[in-house]
Amino acid sequence: MCGIVAYLGDRNAFEVIIKGLKRLEYRGYDSSGIALSADNQLKLYKKTGKVSELESFTNSEDLNGGTGIGHTRWATHGEPTDNNAHPHLSFDGTLGIIHNGIIENYASLKQELLNKGYEFKSDTDSEVVIHFIEDIRKNNNCKLDEAVRLALSKVIGAYAIVIIDRNDPSRLIAARKGSPLVIGVGKGEYFLASDATPIIEYTNEVVYLNDFEIAIVCREGLTLKNMEDVESSPYIQKIDMELDAIEKGGFKHFMLKEIFEQPKSIGDAMRGRLNAAEGQLALGGIRDYLNRLISADRIIVLACGTSWHAGLVAEYFFEEWCRIPVEVEYASEFRYRNPIIKEGDVIIAISQSGETADTLAAIELAKSKGAIIFGVVNAVGSSIPRATHVGAYIHAGPEIGVASTKAFTSQVTVLSMIAMIVSYKKGTISETSYHELLVELETIPEKVQIALGLDQRSQSIARSFMNATNFLYLGRGYNFPVALEGALKLKEISYIHAEGYPAAEMKHGPIALIDEEMPVVVIATNDSSYEKIISNIQEVKARKGKVIAIVTEGDEVIPRLADYVLEVPKTHEALMPLVSVIPLQLLSYYIADLRGCNVDQPRNLAKSVTVE
Ligand code: G6P
Repeated sequence: MCGIVAYLGDRNAFEVIIKGLKRLEYRGYDSSGIALSADNQLKLYKKTGKVSELESFTNSEDLNGGTGIGHTRWATHGEPTDNNAHPHLSFDGTLGIIHNGIIENYASLKQELLNKGYEFKSDTDSEVVIHFIEDIRKNNNCKLDEAVRLALSKVIGAYAIVIIDRNDPSRLIAARKGSPLVIGVGKGEYFLASDATPIIEYTNEVVYLNDFEIAIVCREGLTLKNMEDVESSPYIQKIDMELDAIEKGGFKHFMLKEIFEQPKSIGDAMRGRLNAAEGQLALGGIRDYLNRLISADRIIVLACGTSWHAGLVAEYFFEEWCRIPVEVEYASEFRYRNPIIKEGDVIIAISQSGETADTLAAIELAKSKGAIIFGVVNAVGSSIPRATHVGAYIHAGPEIGVASTKAFTSQVTVLSMIAMIVSYKKGTISETSYHELLVELETIPEKVQIALGLDQRSQSIARSFMNATNFLYLGRGYNFPVALEGALKLKEISYIHAEGYPAAEMKHGPIALIDEEMPVVVIATNDSSYEKIISNIQEVKARKGKVIAIVTEGDEVIPRLADYVLEVPKTHEALMPLVSVIPLQLLSYYIADLRGCNVDQPRNLAKSVTVE
C-alpha cells in the first residue's frame, strides 16, 4: 500500500528514485511523484498513472540533485489525481513529505490548521502531516527532527514518512509506526525505501527502522531517536537478496516467472530442513516453542487472502496428522470479534509480505490475551516476524506479481513440515506414514516441474474461455482450498467473476448458475473423494456446464466426462494442493494475459496491504 523511496548522496537522486519506485510499484500504482532538492528549491513532479508516466512526463526536465523523495500511491484518502499524488509540500513550500499509511485523526488536525489559515492542495491525510510539522517548527522555532517528533506524538495512525527540507538538502528525516521503512547504508550515501528491493543494487547493509523511531539521515551519518527524544545507534544488518530475484529474467510478467520458479522456491523452503533419506526434518526457527504446539489444545490460524487459503490447507494437516483442532480465521474478522483465546491455544500467523495490517493487528490482539504466536512469513525482517514469538521463513524469495503464486506453495510446504514434525513428536502419526510423507514431500519440486509442462495446454484452454463472465471452481478435501485459490487468482487478475466452492456444496446454490455458458473447473485428482467428485462432474454435465478437470495422470474415467482435462503427476493426497494449484495459476495467468489485463498490477489491488 504505497511505496516510498528517498535518496541522499552523490548519485543522481531522480534516477535512483524512479528505478526504486518501479520496483515498489507492486505496492500501489495509481499515481506517483518525486521531489528533488536543488538550488534552494524543491522541484516537484507528480503524475496520475504508473511510474513510467511520471518518467515520460519529466523527460525534458533538468533533474539534477542528490537529495530527493519519491512515492507510488495506492489511494486511500482522495482519488488518484495529480494533486493527491505524493510528495506533498508544506504550506510555505519549504518541506516535502512522502507517506505510506493512514492518519486516523487527520480530520481534527486539518480543522485546527484550517482555523490557523493553512490551505490545502490535496484531499490527502498526508498533506495534513506536513502542514502540521511546519506549524510546529514555526511555533517552537525548533529543528526539523524535533518538529517531526513533536508532531508525531499527536498523530494517530500508521505511517512511514520521509521529509525533505528545501533549505537543508544534506539531511532527510524519516519515521515509522506500523508501515515498513528500510534504510540502505552506502558510503556517504543513504537509500530509504518501503522494502529492500530499491536498495540492493547499491548496498546490502540496511537498518530496519522500528516503530516509534525517527531517523536523522545526514551525509555524515545516521542517528536514531525515539519518541522520548532518546538517541540510539542504528543496528546495521546485511541482507542476502540477489538482483536477479527482483527482475523478470526474460518472462513477460513477474507472475509467470514466479509460477515457473516454484520447483526452486518449494525446494528452498525445504533446504537444510528436510532430508528424507536420513529421516531428518527440523525447523530451527520454531524449536523454542515446539512443545507448546505439540501440547496445543487448539490452533488458530490468522491470515488474509492467499495466505488464508494456505492456512485452510494447514487445517487439514494439523487435524489429520496431529489431531489438533484448528480454526482458520480471517485476521480482519478475528481482530474485531473479542475472540476467545485460552491457555492451550497456539496461533499461527501466515503472511507473504509480513506487513498486512489486519494480520499484524490480530497478532497483537492475540498476544495481549497471552497467546504464543508462530509466524510463517516470506519477507525477511518485515513487521510480522518481529511481532511473533517464533517462526519459520518460507524462503520463496521476493514475490512481485500482485497475485500470489510461489508464496502459496512455499507456505503450504512449510506448514506441512511443521505439522509433520508435531505429529511425529506427538505420536499421532505412524513411523511409516511419517517417513512416506518425508519422501513424498521431497519429490514435490520435480512433480511441480512436470505440472508446469501444462503451460501450452493451459494457454489453449484459456483461449476457449477468455470471454467467459463467470467461473466456478470445485474441489473436495485438500483440494477445496485449491478451488478457492484458483477462483481468487482468476478474479484478481482477469476481472472475471469466479467462485470457489466445496464440490458437495454446489447443490446448495451454485448449481443454479450452471448452463452451457458456465465453465466449471473441477479439481478431481484421484484421492479419497474421487468417486464423489465424479458424481459432481456428472451433475455439472447434466446441466450442460463446461467442465475443465484437473486429474491425476493416467485417469481414464474423468477424461471421458470432462470437456477439457489437465493431468498432474500423482502424489500423496495431502500434498496434492502443491501440484494441483499449478494448472490453475497458469490458466488464470493466460486468461488475464489474453484479455489484455495488467497481470502484475491488477486494478485496485496492492501486494502489501498495510491499511485496514
Ligand atoms: C493482498 C495480496 C494477496 C495476499 C494478501 C495477504 O491482498 O494481493 O496476494 O494474499 O494481501 O497478504 P500477505 O502478505 O499477508 O500474505
